[in-house]
Amino acid sequence: MIQKKLNKNIVLIGLMGSGKTMIAKALAKKLTIDRFSTDEMVEDKENRSIVQIVEDKGWLYFREIEHKIVKKLSRKKDIIIDCGGGVVLNPENFVLLRKNGIIFYLKASPQVLYKRLKGDRTRPLINGPNPQARIKAIFKERLPLYNQADFTIDASDPSIEGPVAEILQKILP
Ligand code: S3P
Repeated sequence: MIQKKLNKNIVLIGLMGSGKTMIAKALAKKLTIDRFSTDEMVEDKENRSIVQIVEDKGWLYFREIEHKIVKKLSRKKDIIIDCGGGVVLNPENFVLLRKNGIIFYLKASPQVLYKRLKGDRTRPLINGPNPQARIKAIFKERLPLYNQADFTIDASDPSIEGPVAEILQKILP
């Protein structure tokens, strides 16, 4: 256990299936700091799942709530922020998160992500007919956005030990 005030937030970005949540949990435990997930907070606020929110009210509504959550979280310090994959689509979110945070992009190839996400029904973005092509397209579209992170961490391995160690090494003196 490491007890340390970083005076910064650790912000995890990346596509669905890149391991953000597991890595965020492991980091929170190691550093004994709080972890917040934008997805979980959106669901708590709306009292229903992301699938239901998107079905009932659409993506725009979901993105608005997500933005409000990002705004709220980015005012805090010394927390881990596990961002939904699409947080980077709003450039304002990036500015907010960067203010108090160090941003880590957890990168894995579309092939690796597809293998991990196959059969998952909780991600409305890939619930359509050809999830493999969809992941590939989203990866291509978002790569320039994710590349704005402070650090890129290789998250292709199923084990989270490597990425966790790498992030710790970047933030601890
Ligand atoms: C999304 C990713 C999801 C969730 C929503 C939209 C995206 O979060 O926010 O389904 O646009 O990439 P995870 O990346 O945590 O799966």
